[in-house]
This record gives sequence, C-alpha cells and structure tokens, in this order.
Amino acid sequence: MDIEKFLNIKKKGRNFYLDIKTHGWNRELLKMKDDNVLLHSNKIKKNREIYKVYHLSELDEFKNISRKSSINCDVTIMNAGILNEKNGINGTGEMFPTYGHIHTTQRNEIYKVIWGRTFLVLVDEDAKKETVIDMKKGDEYLINFKYSHRVYAFNSAVILGFVPNDAGHDYDAIKNKGFPYHLFYDQRSKEIIFKKNKKFGNFDIALERPQNIDSENLFWTNTKKMMEILGL
Ligand SMILES: [Fe+2]
Repeated sequence: MDIEKFLNIKKKGRNFYLDIKTHGWNRELLKMKDDNVLLHSNKIKKNREIYKVYHLSELDEFKNISRKSSINCDVTIMNAGILNEKNGINGTGEMFPTYGHIHTTQRNEIYKVIWGRTFLVLVDEDAKKETVIDMKKGDEYLINFKYSHRVYAFNSAVILGFVPNDAGHDYDAIKNKGFPYHLFYDQRSKEIIFKKNKKFGNFDIALERPQNIDSENLFWTNTKKMMEILGL
C-alpha cells in the first residue's frame, strides 16, 4: 500500500494535515518554552501548535501488520514557521523543532520524509557529536537507539516513522537542556545556522546523508527484516 496516497494529505494555509480519522496528539509552543527545550531568545506571548503526531497502527489497514511485528507507524506533521529573535531584523530564528527524546529500550527507529524538507538531528553523547541529516521527500534514515533525536523544519513537512511499540520515549532527557546545537534559519540568505547551546560542553557537528532503506516496502512485505532493522 502506498501510505502517502492513503494519508490523503491536504494543505490548510501553510500547513499540511491528514484527512483521515485517527488518534493523535499535538505539541504546543508554550510547553516547549516552559520546558526550556528551545534556544529562542524572544518572549513568547501567543501559544501555537508546532507539530502533530498521528497514530496509524490502530487503523484497519495497519492493525494486523502492526500487531504481528510490534511496529508502530506514526505520522508527524511539522507546521511551517520560525521563532523570530528578540532583536531580529533579518528574519532569523530557530526553526520549529519537535521536543526531542531518547528511547528507553534498545529499539531503533526509521524516519521517512514523505513531504517537504526536514533536518533530523541526532546526538551521540559518548562521541560528543551532533549529526544533522538534511532530508527531502523520499529520504530515509535509521536512528540508532543510542542517540537522542529531534526534527527541525521551517516549512510544513510530513514524516513517516516506524518504531517498535516498546521503544519508550524519554522526554526528560531533553527537558531543561535541549540539544548541543539548535538549527536556525535565515529567511533572507536562506542559510541554515547552527547555534551552540551553552548548556553543553564541546560538541562536534557533522552532516550526514540520508540512507536507502526501502522501509515502506519492507513494512508491508518483509516483517522479519523490518523487525531486525529496528532491533526487535
Ligand atoms: Fe524516537
């Protein structure tokens, strides 16, 4: 099954949404500000939705394969925007991020971008290295369970995630800390800026390319292989 077609992705204003009935939740700006997971310097007065997560695994089309494999299929929709800086005169600011988390068990995760452009951020605490993967439609990446991760986007984007249902999401690992480098966007020069977070000591930053995993196909046709990749 072509998941992208199934999702019936539509656009309202600048943002994508799914025109299907399923459960999900959303993350709002004030929660992320209160939890100090942003490097944003400006006062935030107005709350807004930053992203939304839809769970597909309970839908008829996904139920059997999700139960059999213990793999959840989730969709994250990033809303478009950047957080303008206090004295910003040139429209530079932190891109909208997901909160970020690390898995509590040895389970990996696959991200596949199905619409838009996103930046996947991984943090290797042992190597003191942050890796950024610039991903566009069709790109995939296998996230090792050892790395905390988040996604940034400045335009609306749709991401498919395959993750074992017992992966465990530790958000407290990010709370009051954030990431070693946060991604900002300069709307004028269209440049990505990596801003160091003073809460972290020395950290390297590296860019990596997306991978070819063929995750969607494996999910439907080769459960065993998919489970193996995800550490099940
Ligand atoms: Fe994850």
